[in-house]
Amino acid sequence: MSAVRPASPAHLAQALLGWYDRHRRRLPWRTAPGVRPDPYRVWLSEIMLQQTTVPVVAGYFQRFLERWPTLESLALAELDDVLHAWQGLGYYARARNLHACARQLATDHGGHFPTEEKALRALPGIGRYTAAAIAAIAYDRPATVVDGNVERVIARLRAVESPLPAAKPKLYALAAELTPEARPGDYAQALMDLGATVCTPRNPGCLACPWQSVCEGRARGLAESLPRRAPKRQRPLRHGVSFWLMRTDGAVLLRRRPDEGLLGGMIELPTTPWRDEPWNLAEASAHAPQPLTWQALPEPVRHGFTHFEIELLVAAAEIEGGSANESDGAIWCPPARFSEHALPTLTRKLVRYAERYRPGPASTPEGGRR
Ligand code: ADE
Repeated sequence: MSAVRPASPAHLAQALLGWYDRHRRRLPWRTAPGVRPDPYRVWLSEIMLQQTTVPVVAGYFQRFLERWPTLESLALAELDDVLHAWQGLGYYARARNLHACARQLATDHGGHFPTEEKALRALPGIGRYTAAAIAAIAYDRPATVVDGNVERVIARLRAVESPLPAAKPKLYALAAELTPEARPGDYAQALMDLGATVCTPRNPGCLACPWQSVCEGRARGLAESLPRRAPKRQRPLRHGVSFWLMRTDGAVLLRRRPDEGLLGGMIELPTTPWRDEPWNLAEASAHAPQPLTWQALPEPVRHGFTHFEIELLVAAAEIEGGSANESDGAIWCPPARFSEHALPTLTRKLVRYAERYRPGPASTPEGGRR
C-alpha cells in the first residue's frame, strides 16, 4: 500500500517543468528557454553523452563544434580525423557511426535530420534513446526519453521493485504514461536533470524534489534502494601480448586495426589475437612483427571493456637502423608524436607502461636526434 495521493500525469509534468524552469542546468548544448536548439548539436551531445559524463563531454563538444560547426562539415571530414578528435571518449563505434550518420544524412536526407523517431532510428548509431531525445529536444515531439537517470527516477516514483534489466520495458511504459504533449523537450531534459542532481543513486535529495509528495518509493522508505539490479555476471578475462618494437632512432612500430569490430580503424601496438587462455612468450612470438629476441616486461596491463576485461603482456625489442618496411598498415612513429594518431585508451595505457620500462633515446628540443 502506498501513502501518496494519486496525481495525474499532467499535474506531475507541470510540477517537474516548474522545477526545471528554476533549476535547469546550464549545459553547452542547451539553448536559452524557449529557443529551439540546432538538431546537429542535440544529436552530437546525445551521442557523446552515451556512457560518458557531462563534465567530460563538455570539452569534447566545444572542440568538435569549433572544428565541424555544421552537419555538412562533419560529413565532409575524414573518418581518421573524427576518430582522432574522439580520442579519450571511448566506445569508438560511436565516432564511426557519428561519421557514417552525417554522411547518410548528407546523401539521403538533404543534410537534415528527420523529425520522426522511426526515421531517426534507421540512421547509424541512433537507437531508441537517441531517436527519442532528438525528436523531443530538437523538434519538441512528445517522445519518451529513457536513459539510466530516467529509469531510476521512474522506478522510485512508482516503487518498481523488479530488478533491471528485466524491468526496462515496464519502466519505459510507466515513463510513456507521463510524457506530456506540452513542452516535451523541456520535460525530457527536466527528468534527466532531476535524475542527475536530485534523484541521485545515493543520498537522493528528496526534500528538493518536485515529486516528493507523490513518490511511492519515498513513501515506502525504498527510494534509495531503487532501482534494484540483478546480480552482475563477472566479465570474462581475455589475454594477449602486445609488441613494443623500437628503432634506434626512437620510433616505435604501430599498426592500424581492421575497420570492422572493436576499436575498428584505431591505431595500436602490434598484438597477438586475444583469447581466453594466457599466452607464453614463445608461442606469442609467432605473431610478433619481426623475428627478434623479445623480452617480456614485468607486469601485464589490464583494461576493461563493456563485456570483457583484457590482460596484455608487453614484449619489447629493439632493432637497428631505420629502413623498416611500412607495408601492411605499419606506422613508425616516435612516442612524442603518438598524439597525432587515434590511439584508444588501452593502447595509451600500454604506451605509458612500456615507456616506463623501455624509455627511448633522449630527445633534444629542435630537430632532435635522428
Ligand atoms: N544526459 C544525456 N542527455 C542529456 C541532456 N540532454 N541533458 C542533460 N543530461 C543529459
